[in-house]
Amino acid sequence: MTNSRTISFIGGGNMARSLIGGLLENGYAPASVSVSDPLAATTTALSEDFGISTYADNATAAAAADIIVLAVKPQQMQTVVSALGPELKGKLVVSIAAGVQCRNITKWADEAFDLVRCMPNTPALLQCGATALFANTDVSAANRDAATTILSAAGVVAWVESESELDAITALSGSGPAYFFLLIETMTNTAVKQGLAPDLANKFAIQTALGAARMAHTGEHNPAQLRKNVTSPGGTTEAALNSFADNNFHEIVERAMQAAHDRSEQLGQN
Ligand SMILES: NC(=O)c1ccc[n+]([C@@H]2O[C@H](COP(=O)([O-])OP(=O)(O)OC[C@H]3O[C@@H](n4cnc5c(N)ncnc54)[C@H](OP(=O)(O)O)[C@@H]3O)[C@@H](O)[C@H]2O)c1
Repeated sequence: MTNSRTISFIGGGNMARSLIGGLLENGYAPASVSVSDPLAATTTALSEDFGISTYADNATAAAAADIIVLAVKPQQMQTVVSALGPELKGKLVVSIAAGVQCRNITKWADEAFDLVRCMPNTPALLQCGATALFANTDVSAANRDAATTILSAAGVVAWVESESELDAITALSGSGPAYFFLLIETMTNTAVKQGLAPDLANKFAIQTALGAARMAHTGEHNPAQLRKNVTSPGGTTEAALNSFADNNFHEIVERAMQAAHDRSEQLGQN
């Protein structure tokens, strides 16, 4: 159904490129997708890579489509949405801008439209993202399905019931990749201190993270069970996990995620 509706991306940066690539891979017709961006080099590259229509002007791009995906930086949203105003009327508008609340988008546009706010994360750039979506009760089921289709092009999606849940999503999957990068960095540096070559340490830390994620992803056992399965009594893993516990690992993670949550809430209010 979505495939018969035209989509315009406002802003042709990293996220728009990833979503467009994913949509076309999933069978979406290039003729149904367009993008606007002020930079000619950006629109030329998108046109050449995907065979889609491109525009230098947002209003022309928005007028040409049934669904508008706002894919500019959060700090550009007010200018872009205020200028688009009437072009959004009656359409499905999907915002992927981190931290920009629905009430602000509606206020800046000063028009009525179905609005879906999404919180994707960086692995979306590899179509391996996790995106949460929120819509108020006015948004039709068909438009919810359309938003699901668009964001599914970048990985897994889930709907949340309230906009405030997006603060918890930000603390989990939005900021989450950085937590894993920190662990990979720290494990690499420690292995180097223990005598391994940096390249080998880095390669094995990354492969271990990937392997662990893939094992958890199968869903055959939950993470707690997987951890127990590799923890022999009196063994090396138990020694490491006991050290984590002695140093309050759980509290460290909980405090960090609470800080991310609170900051997300604060940024949204601003
Ligand atoms: N990247 C991620 O992993 C990620 C994760 C979660 C959420 N998001 C959200 O996704 C949105 C896009 O992020 P991104 O990483 O794709 O950013 P990006 O690469 O900077 O893309 C934004 C694009 O919008 C263009 N632009 C600037 N002003 C514009 C205007 N007035 N009209 C139309 N286009 C304009 C920019 O052009 P110039 O470069 O010339 O300014 C750029 O090409 C952001 O709101 C961000 O919060 C991104």
